[in-house]
Amino acid sequence: MRAASSSTQPSWASLLTIGLAGLGAVQAVDLDIEDGESIKKAAKEIATNMMTYYTGMNPGDNPGNLPDPYYWWEAGAMFNALIDYWYYTGDDTWNDITIQGMTWQAGENGAFMPNNQSKTEGNDDQVFWAFAAMSAAERNFPNPPDDKPQWLEMAQAVFNTQAPRWDPSSCGGGLRWQIFTWNNGYNYKNTISTGGFFHLAARLAKYTGNSTYSDWAEKAWDWISDVGFMTTNYHFWDGASDLNECKELNKIEWTYNNGVFLLGAANMYNATEDPKWKDRLQRVLNSTDIFFATTPKNVMYERACETVNTCMVDQRSFKGYLARWMASTTQLAPFTFDQIMPKLKASGQAAAKTCTGGDQQTSCGLRWTDQKWDHTKDFGQQMAALEVVQSNLITRVDPPVTSDNGGTSKGNPSAGGKPPEPKPKALSYTITTADRAGAGILTVMMIITLGGSCGWLIWD
Ligand SMILES: *[C@@H]1O[C@H](CO)[C@@H](O)[C@H](O)[C@H]1NC(C)=O
Ligand SMILES: *[C@@H]1O[C@H](CO)[C@@H](O)[C@H](O)[C@H]1NC(C)=O
Ligand SMILES: *[C@@H]1O[C@H](CO)[C@@H](O)[C@H](O)[C@H]1NC(C)=O
Ligand SMILES: *[C@@H]1O[C@H](CO)[C@@H](O)[C@H](O)[C@H]1NC(C)=O
Repeated sequence: MRAASSSTQPSWASLLTIGLAGLGAVQAVDLDIEDGESIKKAAKEIATNMMTYYTGMNPGDNPGNLPDPYYWWEAGAMFNALIDYWYYTGDDTWNDITIQGMTWQAGENGAFMPNNQSKTEGNDDQVFWAFAAMSAAERNFPNPPDDKPQWLEMAQAVFNTQAPRWDPSSCGGGLRWQIFTWNNGYNYKNTISTGGFFHLAARLAKYTGNSTYSDWAEKAWDWISDVGFMTTNYHFWDGASDLNECKELNKIEWTYNNGVFLLGAANMYNATEDPKWKDRLQRVLNSTDIFFATTPKNVMYERACETVNTCMVDQRSFKGYLARWMASTTQLAPFTFDQIMPKLKASGQAAAKTCTGGDQQTSCGLRWTDQKWDHTKDFGQQMAALEVVQSNLITRVDPPVTSDNGGTSKGNPSAGGKPPEPKPKALSYTITTADRAGAGILTVMMIITLGGSCGWLIWD
């Protein structure tokens, strides 16, 4: 993910804007948030539009890749959205594409470490694919062919590759953002990478009952707190460079960081029934309030970039994950239901009102608080709208299965061992000019951010 900071970036919106004014007042995606059939219809329209971006199922294309400018991880996020779409609606239109794309990218050992991605793959990128595999296991999504790694096995494979990357050599532990030393951002330890590992471990603990996973989840939570990435008020900063022991925090707050801890804590609470986890979950949930507007009430927004038009490609999808994980949280921790549902309803309804753009009048805008299309089109914001709209079907579906309660996906606790992680053959020519340019921009961006130029974004 290329998401370390935002406030110093030029506006992508200007690049993405398409100059079509809305024709009349037609609202193509017409949603009544109280009506299940209406939600399903709206979700299908939004998903159909989203799938116009994906070409991986075409002959000669790579299954599981999205074309530029979308990074590899976002395709993993897309398959998670499609798995949830099937589970929420019963519509299996995109199931085969999902199985094809995920088994392709998972590779022989199931760990989602394809050689093609070794120049960009971070721990956070990898774990978003694992989330999709975990959702497939929890939802009893149709299993892959027998000769391929299975859903649970994929999630375990990612866990097994990430646990050994736990790195006490600086900042007392945590996961680095990047996996490979040669990638920019290797010296950055961040909340989404460590939080992703926490979240995956918590869901594996719930699904399998194996205490190895819950032990790791405890350890990751404690570290995030000790290092100060999570504040005493349960707000989440983005991360810090480990070159000075994570002392200078990048204090930018993203919806998905709260989300990743929210559902992780909900799984830990459900698995352990420990009041400590109930309290943590409640506090993380309360801290998400900062991402919901007062006018229009309860509508989610990405406060770090939307208000200043600086949301970059990755960031345009983030709200979708908070919505996705808030919905799941209501199933694992029903005590949160009354607090979460009004927010999902208001946000889902507002998001649908933005979906009037493009030829089919089903392209969704970035800013749900506008409640109308903002004349931008983008894969990530389309996916986010899908997530928040379909989340409103959560009351109509069964809670997740586990290995001793209906789950059919086969696991393998030692998955992920082979083949070895890719190694750079010769960096001098595998890193292209374009990669260098990208990495250089990122470095500048991180320096500026760490220098405190986004101080105005800091919460309390
Ligand atoms: C990696 O890239 C090559 C060349 O484009 C392609 O043939 C192969 O299928 C890709 N592998 C994956 C896992 O996408
Ligand atoms: C969480 O928020 C609710 C509703 O705003 C409030 O009643 C409750 O006291 C808060 N809980 C904590 C632990 O802050
Ligand atoms: C755990 O989750 C199940 C649904 O999966 C739910 O019925 C149960 O109430 C949850 N447990 C707690 C302690 O909330
Ligand atoms: C629990 O998970 C760990 C880590 O993957 C594994 O080594 C161990 O064998 C598992 N235990 C059981 C009983 O499956």
